[in-house]
Amino acid sequence: MRAHEAGALHADLGGSHGPSWLRTPGDVNALVPTLWPKTVKRDDRTGALTVAGVDINKIAEEHGTPAYIFDEADFRERCRRFKEAFGGADVYYAGKAFIAAAIVRILVEEGLFLDVCTGGELAVALKGGMPPERLGFHGNNKSTSELSRAVEAGVGRIIVDSFDEIGRLTRIARDTGKTPKVLIRVTVGVEAHTHEYIATAHEDQKFGFSLAGGAAEQAVERILAEGVLELCGLHSHIGSQIFDSSGFEVAARRILGLQAKIHEKHGVELPELDLGGGFGIAYTTQDNPAEPADLAGDLMRIVKQECAALHLSVPHLSVEPGRAIVGPAMFTLYQVGTVKDVDGIRTYVSVDGGMSDNIRTALYDAAYSATVAGRTSTEPPILARVVGKHCEAGDIVVKDEFLPADVRAGDLLAVPGTGAYCRSMASNYNHVPRPPVVAVADGASRVIVRRETEDDLLRLDVG
Ligand code: LLP
Repeated sequence: MRAHEAGALHADLGGSHGPSWLRTPGDVNALVPTLWPKTVKRDDRTGALTVAGVDINKIAEEHGTPAYIFDEADFRERCRRFKEAFGGADVYYAGKAFIAAAIVRILVEEGLFLDVCTGGELAVALKGGMPPERLGFHGNNKSTSELSRAVEAGVGRIIVDSFDEIGRLTRIARDTGKTPKVLIRVTVGVEAHTHEYIATAHEDQKFGFSLAGGAAEQAVERILAEGVLELCGLHSHIGSQIFDSSGFEVAARRILGLQAKIHEKHGVELPELDLGGGFGIAYTTQDNPAEPADLAGDLMRIVKQECAALHLSVPHLSVEPGRAIVGPAMFTLYQVGTVKDVDGIRTYVSVDGGMSDNIRTALYDAAYSATVAGRTSTEPPILARVVGKHCEAGDIVVKDEFLPADVRAGDLLAVPGTGAYCRSMASNYNHVPRPPVVAVADGASRVIVRRETEDDLLRLDVG
């Protein structure tokens, strides 16, 4: 077995079945529509990619590389698709995937809600003008100051995650005379990753109140007994990169079972139910996630059926997609700096970014694809590995990809599917400034998050 065959064949958060090098080399110039934002095309005349009509070479000249390129029309369409698919349900965009004030403004215009999970994300949400009542505040360790700020701002739903937090929030409610609206995060015993859901080891995690262990029921009792928080409903989030509805089905059934128990015991029918996020996307041609409309149809049918069986009224639903809205709406644009053939093994193509702008390959063994963006090539495909400029051997952006044999220094290279959890998880490893986010729409580009500079980084040194 060669070294690169020994790695995990199944990358949970990578969302791919098996290593991409098993793929047969296709046309190196082709763009697979499921991987790219909707306005990205290859210009027949120049061979360069265009985004919303703007030539990628022009974008690189104007904004430099590396840069995250955001297709605004694509993002808006995904927001609308989720909203339509889930009918009357509230769609909370999960800000942890990627958040910036400009993104929040678009969410406001598109009528979405927003899930934040720290004081920092809350600050961006408010800066971007999200009405506070359309915010959900998550987190397993919200500080007293974060909770106070949320209550002060009038955040719509606080998703409580521990008895400590219930205690803190109860005190804040008493002190301020306000009545925060809360959901209880329930650990339902389903942990879904990619295609399978695993019903073991699920209780062993930091999030939520255990359903099986009885903590969720105790949390309900405590909140009802204190009488100062408004208990709106239950919440469940079962994982990430979920491709079908089977995991949600088990989760919904279990959580509605608790709902029925609460009704029986306390005479309370909780009016809301949040089924979380985790809807998967395609990172490579190997991935085939369900359409939001199909998942939504399944989820709503399951909830209705279960409620009918339990003699409950159907609660108002909400969901929290992050990746599925922003993931495919962005790609990363790099410039190739060096190309190295390691004899008989592979070709290393080094770009001007790396694990500081996309940690997912190193962290989750995630699979990505790449294409030469500024031109086409008639050369045959070669198997290449796209690596970054960091001082670390594991600094890999795309593990295996077929690139044209004439890939060379100076080429622009685009990696699709990097909208979610890349800029938001970016670091300054090796003191590399983080790339900008450039939004492109209707033939024009604008910076929505500026590039960091070395001066930005040096300003933090106070010694
Ligand atoms: N709601 C809750 C409560 C969550 O914890 C998450 C993600 C979401 C919604 C959104 O999940 P999405 O639809 O984006 O899959 N860093 C990892 C993902 C961590 C997800 C954490 N929670 C990655 O890069 O894949």
